Amino acid sequence: MVGKEQGEGEVEVIHSWSAPRSLSTSLMYSFAQRDDMEVLDEPLYATFLKVSDVERPYREELLSKMESDGDKVVEEIIFAPGEKKYRFCKHMSKQRLPGLPSDLMKKGKHFILIRNPLDILPSFGKVVPPSFLDLGLAELVSIYNDLCQLGKRPPVIDATDLAQNPEATLHSLCEDLGIPFQDSMLRWEAGPKLIDGMWAPWWYKSVHKSTGFSSTRKYPEPFPHSHYDLLEQSLPLYNWLRRHVRQASTLLKTPLPPPDLPVPANEKLLAWVGDEILPRESAKVSVFDSVVQGGDSVWEGLRVYRGKIFKLEEHLDRLFDSAKALAFKNVPTREEVKEAIFRTLIRNGMFDNSHIRLSLTRGKKVTSGMSPAFNLYGCTLIVLPEWKPPVYDNTHGVTLVTATTRRNSPNNLDSKIHHNNLLNNILAKIEGNNANADDAIMLDKDGFVSETNATNIFLVKKGRVLTPHADYCLPGITRATVMDLVVKEGLVLEERRISLSEFHTADEVWTTGTMGELTPAVKIDGREVGDGQVGPVTRRLQNAYKKLTEESGVPIPSYQEN
Ligand SMILES: Cc1ncc(COP(=O)(O)O)c(C=O)c1O
Repeated sequence: MVGKEQGEGEVEVIHSWSAPRSLSTSLMYSFAQRDDMEVLDEPLYATFLKVSDVERPYREELLSKMESDGDKVVEEIIFAPGEKKYRFCKHMSKQRLPGLPSDLMKKGKHFILIRNPLDILPSFGKVVPPSFLDLGLAELVSIYNDLCQLGKRPPVIDATDLAQNPEATLHSLCEDLGIPFQDSMLRWEAGPKLIDGMWAPWWYKSVHKSTGFSSTRKYPEPFPHSHYDLLEQSLPLYNWLRRHVRQASTLLKTPLPPPDLPVPANEKLLAWVGDEILPRESAKVSVFDSVVQGGDSVWEGLRVYRGKIFKLEEHLDRLFDSAKALAFKNVPTREEVKEAIFRTLIRNGMFDNSHIRLSLTRGKKVTSGMSPAFNLYGCTLIVLPEWKPPVYDNTHGVTLVTATTRRNSPNNLDSKIHHNNLLNNILAKIEGNNANADDAIMLDKDGFVSETNATNIFLVKKGRVLTPHADYCLPGITRATVMDLVVKEGLVLEERRISLSEFHTADEVWTTGTMGELTPAVKIDGREVGDGQVGPVTRRLQNAYKKLTEESGVPIPSYQEN
């Protein structure tokens, strides 16, 4: 045990955990500039070399000169008394070996420094061939988790932010560590330093040229193909840690702050993509996927009511018909799609009040291009479930305006194909948003009403119920259901071309769609519909629809009603 000399006292240790080539030495130099800080360069290096068979050119020399007994390093070096208030300990994550005294993690303040493996690997390879262990990202994640379990969630900083904005990054790090920022941390002298570990001649050549964090490089180095696999293995771990960085900057200079989700419970979703179930942030399709390259995909929206999927078979019929019309090949079977839907809902514990966005893309291409001949991987199935209460105000009703954007005609793109090429409808929705309306009515090429940008539409005039025929609009499943209900309720139903003025002068208007169910429209283009109140026929059909959703639907396996 090192004796407590005169003037020496308790020191608060600040542990920096990182992978190599992450500006960790620069950060050590930065902290060494402070008047209240002493620093230690990788005190656990010899301990690590002793128990691992990692070859390094300086292995023998280091083992002979540096303490390698882990217990002693932790108790007598890292937590030794000292003259300064703080001691900064630079650690490589892989040096946190099993069996080290638990004080290492329990005592002191910890933070994690990460760097994109895309930037680490090119320079790493110049000294020794890098490995997954050397990159230490798996261990960094485990350090993060262990510290959280100890109730000491560590701040995470990214080397890219340090290089791009050293002052702000150091400010927020110091704040998180509960120490005052000092200006001196921004600059240091060039050249080797007394605090350097003895491996400095191999690893610190470029950091010895530096006098601060800012890099003179504007553009990155080319990435060596030999490290491609390592990049793929380590990037997800880096990305996970990066999500915990306070105010991370990006390659874009103007990142937006993280938005609030309309339903916060959807933050921890699991979605089906391809053939696996993934957390929300990892649920992504390839940049080669047809849906990215050309909106070349078909979709369905489904609703879940008390353990049952409403009109599941009808939605699957339309999905497979749309895929056939677009000549998709290697389409999953109906049973496979159903299984994917069930499994995703069960994994999420979603048995009520939920909506599923089901997409089937033509799949990944072997190269960019329009031709389906490039689609050699089979279709991509996406099951995206969300907690979603009805999206419209079905009690008081919504307002609509008429868009100038026309609904596609079968001359251009047949509306009976439920495809993801939604720009036509999105342009109309923009017009609706600009007019502060809830949705926009879309006309056909001859000026007759077809539907809204997202729903089918009905009117009531003198007791008769009318809806446009489905030449231009999507033959909606809710539309068909409501048409059945109209007949069952003993009302007269007419399917025909309807002009806009008939909607302006209707007694009642409602829209239909799986997402929003049956929604009264109380104002169209500034004109009140009827007396501006939700009408009796609308109410009657809303009730009949609600009853149907309660009584029918395909049960989700394993669901048990309480
Ligand atoms: C343009 C359009 N119209 C109508 C609907 C309503 O169709 P459904 O009742 O099948 O949900 C949708 C829903 O996907 C739609 O996108």
